[in-house]
Amino acid sequence: MEIFLNSIIEGNCVEVMKHFDSETVDLTITSPPYDGLRSYKGYVFPFEDIAKELYRVTKQGGVIVWVVADATIESSETGTSFKQALFFKEIGFNLHDTMIFRKKNPIPQIYRKRYNNEFEYMFVFSKGSVKTHNPIMVDCMHAGLELNGTTYKNYSKNEQTREKFATPVKDKKIKGNIWEYVVGKKQEDQEAKRHPAPFPCDLVRDHVMSWTNPGDIILDPMCGSGTTPRVAAEMGRRYIGIDISHEYCDIAKKRVQRIEAQPTLFVEEKEKPNSAKAA
Ligand SMILES: C[S@@+](CC[C@H](N)C(=O)[O-])C[C@H]1O[C@@H](n2cnc3c(N)ncnc32)[C@H](O)[C@@H]1O
Repeated sequence: MEIFLNSIIEGNCVEVMKHFDSETVDLTITSPPYDGLRSYKGYVFPFEDIAKELYRVTKQGGVIVWVVADATIESSETGTSFKQALFFKEIGFNLHDTMIFRKKNPIPQIYRKRYNNEFEYMFVFSKGSVKTHNPIMVDCMHAGLELNGTTYKNYSKNEQTREKFATPVKDKKIKGNIWEYVVGKKQEDQEAKRHPAPFPCDLVRDHVMSWTNPGDIILDPMCGSGTTPRVAAEMGRRYIGIDISHEYCDIAKKRVQRIEAQPTLFVEEKEKPNSAKAA
């Protein structure tokens, strides 16, 4: 396994993953080509085989973040994303959370009788119970407020109402599961503009922080422009990126090399949960 670490590998991910040891990967963050929406060079997408290999290589308690949306074909969304999520469950993963990646700057669409699409799913699968969760915390809107005298109904005990003396609202709470990002505008995201569908680096950062610790192994089997390996390197994790396209592997390698050439970008302090600001 060691020989694959901290490298970008060109190839069909199903074939490449066959060489990996079982139960070695802490976190996979990836986005598959969906519904033939975009044409990628060298496109081969054996979804079920990829999912099964991902199950084999994921550690107990490890996590997969599968970012996907559906195409609309003949007036109907395909539902492929849900079919894939259910297949992951069938082969043994837990569907730990169905999260939303909301785009703050969605591409305007010309569909008739339909609202503009502005999100993708981020299905979070786990192999058994999640072993690492460093929750991102945000400010509570009503921090410090005392809500004395609140009442609530308690039908189970045959009481109509009951006094509840609330303690002051806490300063911080765990962030919700709809995450918002601007797509493709930051300098670090512009590095990937020769790829048609790169992740925002911040999206990857938030998942890396949430589901891993420094030194953990992060895989992206369809890494495109290499956003996952780039951010993993920046955050002191080990990475493996795979893509079937020579051209995209080149972009990914360059992005990672730029990060690795910088002296200690990774600062332990950045890692601490509770440091995130309210969205
Ligand atoms: C949605 S893009 C991923 C973009 C990536 N998240 C980024 O930040 O740039 C999907 C990628 O899957 C790659 N791909 C498609 N089939 C593949 C396969 N069987 N093995 C490896 N890569 C594959 C495509 O070349 C494409 O770059």
